Amino acid sequence: MPRTVIAALGTCVPDQVITNEELTRRMETSDEWIRQRTGIQERRWVKEGQGNSDLALEAARRALARAGWQASDVEAIIYATLSTDHMFPGDGCFLNAKLGIPGVPALDIRNQCSGFIYGLSIADAWIKSGQYRRVLLVGSEVHSTGLDVTTRGRDVAVIFGDGAGAALLEASDDPARGVLSTHLHADGRFAKELWTDAPGSIYHPRVQPRMLEDASIFPRMEGQKVFKHAITKMPEVVREALGKNGVATKDIKVLIPHQANLRISEMVQRSLELRDDQVWNNIQKYGNTTAASIPLALEEAVGALGVQRGDLVALAAFGAGFTWASALLRW
Ligand code: UT7
Repeated sequence: MPRTVIAALGTCVPDQVITNEELTRRMETSDEWIRQRTGIQERRWVKEGQGNSDLALEAARRALARAGWQASDVEAIIYATLSTDHMFPGDGCFLNAKLGIPGVPALDIRNQCSGFIYGLSIADAWIKSGQYRRVLLVGSEVHSTGLDVTTRGRDVAVIFGDGAGAALLEASDDPARGVLSTHLHADGRFAKELWTDAPGSIYHPRVQPRMLEDASIFPRMEGQKVFKHAITKMPEVVREALGKNGVATKDIKVLIPHQANLRISEMVQRSLELRDDQVWNNIQKYGNTTAASIPLALEEAVGALGVQRGDLVALAAFGAGFTWASALLRW
């Protein structure tokens, strides 16, 4: 059976840097509060005219150039996002058009912060089954256009950033490399602990003026509840992956936790008894970019830590749904 390897990664963040200081001009908050509670120093927000699928396109192009592939080498697209350019169709189709690869299937998934690992799991299954040999997996988000950037929405607004990460996944016969396993979970009892209520097809009509007034168009979060589940479920799902593959935390070259909050990453690290050099965080620069956060951090970590072929890499995520997931792979 072929193994699924990451042939190349590519990322793209908007040019516009929004510092904590800048946010203090729009809402009652402070650099100190944001840094202490989340570790975030700045994030990137798009300017008008740059959409989710534009960020994804640039990330994909960079990955293609790095791998030496043509867009026409891609046999399938998996696109993870919660912030599509339009209600439908999904951004996978827009990316397909922008890459100029008509006919190539585009699967859109919306598993929020766990989207990249859910997507990796699907790509791995496709590649192992022989259905496709080359898959483009993208995690991309534009949060900034959907945030309540007033004091009312400050608990959520200060956290989220825009960005995209792409991974080119390829079938390989090298037994020393590739995805070892993926582990996916969801618990919909908590669906309304972190969600955007409206607009939605459950409402008649689905868009109503009151939605602007009652703020139901903005993401809402029971922050402490999300926090508590994240610090429990992320270590648990990493241990599940380690157990399944008969390896230990000491064997991990690097863990990439979803960048939800630096405090969460630190608690996950402590819970798993990992050294500082075994965990990579870059939420300080980008905030929480949901489906994009893992590829954004993974690309940086691979370069900065000199991850070598065969090194054990762990990915872990937790987010809205609730969903959570992990993956273990040999680089
Ligand atoms: O990626 C998806 C998963 N998301 C997460 O994992 C996020 C998990 N949750 C968190 O990271 C944290 O809960 C937050 C960073 C969102 C909030 O931190 P917290 O320590 O849970 O704060 P809190 O919501 O309990 O609020 C504490 C206080 C409140 O004031 P009072 O009631 O004590 O007077 C808030 O109104 O902090 C206030 N507050 C703020 N103050 C300044 C909330 N947001 C802000 C803000 N600036 N941006």
